Amino acid sequence: MTLSTKSFEIFCGTGGVGKTTLATARALSLSQSGKRVLLVTIDPARRLKDLLGLSENAIGEVVPVTIENTELHALLMSPEKTIGRMAAKYQTPDLADNRIVQILSKPYGGMNEILSMVEVQMQFDSGKFDVVVLDTPPGAHFLDFLESLGKIRSFFDQNFIEIFNYLGQKSAKAGKKLFSFNIINRVVSSGVRKLLGYLQNVTGAQFIDDFIEAIQIIYRSRDAFLKGLSLQDKLKSKAECNWFLVTSVEQGKAEEAVEMRSHASHFIHQDHFLVLNKCLEQDLANWNPEANTLSTVKDSLIQKEQDLKQQLQEVFPVVLEFPEIISLSPAEHIRQLTQKWTTYGSRS
Ligand SMILES: Nc1ncnc2c1ncn2[C@@H]1O[C@H](COP(=O)(O)OP(=O)(O)OP(=O)(O)O)[C@@H](O)[C@H]1O
Ligand SMILES: [Mg+2]
Repeated sequence: MTLSTKSFEIFCGTGGVGKTTLATARALSLSQSGKRVLLVTIDPARRLKDLLGLSENAIGEVVPVTIENTELHALLMSPEKTIGRMAAKYQTPDLADNRIVQILSKPYGGMNEILSMVEVQMQFDSGKFDVVVLDTPPGAHFLDFLESLGKIRSFFDQNFIEIFNYLGQKSAKAGKKLFSFNIINRVVSSGVRKLLGYLQNVTGAQFIDDFIEAIQIIYRSRDAFLKGLSLQDKLKSKAECNWFLVTSVEQGKAEEAVEMRSHASHFIHQDHFLVLNKCLEQDLANWNPEANTLSTVKDSLIQKEQDLKQQLQEVFPVVLEFPEIISLSPAEHIRQLTQKWTTYGSRS
């Protein structure tokens, strides 16, 4: 079969199955075929940084990398850097200055997924790349990434933002930043009131001011966030996105892949690919053990792998197989897996 190349190519799957390595190899194979490729990792664990030999300074920046004499670009997501770029692009400098926004945009601060969407959209809009290859964090974190779109929408739909806006204007007019509890008493439901009252006792009024200001600032930057939402339709579209759900050849991992697809089924379109990594069958077939016992081991391993493949082929529309690379060197893994991607071709 020949794979067609799409504007977005997403690698997802559970832990340690080879997402980052396969995404890198795919990006390299596409670059070799003449595409302008941006390889993005939204995984805060950043194994890609080590794999590509990038320095700390590269984090959050689009940097050129050369692998096997081929140049492509890579971006290790940094929410803080994304906030900075949004502030510059949408001329909302206070977005980068507010203390609460700064906390939220730490790597595990809760905005990682939303900002990843915004960043990917901004990079694609730059017109510099034909393909964005996305390496995602394992399992549940990846599902958070998908859910972030819903979060953006509900955040901006909430009336409470209007309320905070109103409060902010009131306190600005009063010539002081401190909010008035009287206003809160009038407009905010008792649950939120209790919470804010509690927070004020614990943190002091300054925190509440920063908090209200953060909501307002984020609201003023809503165009940038909402732009991130338009990515949702692209990712759901067969014409614009290839989904690669990665698993390795192990019963447990394969079951996790089936489960993950069912969790994300409203998002991943029907023409996705299951990438079955670390297959042993071919190497085993070429192996001629002398001892009988080893022969039995060989046959049973092959049988087990064939059974698993058959099970998966019943569940997934297309299964792409990648071999186990017998080497300890990640660079060698990338080199050989890139060759394998090339055999699958890339139609535009
Ligand atoms: N086909 C392969 N053959 C042999 N080793 C492989 C193969 N694919 C990946 N590896 C190795 O397996 C290890 C895990 O790979 P990788 O980091 O790409 O997985 P991952 O799914 O991104 O992990 P995580 O969930 O932690 O992000 C790495 O050491 C990698 O070099
Ligand atoms: Mg990874």
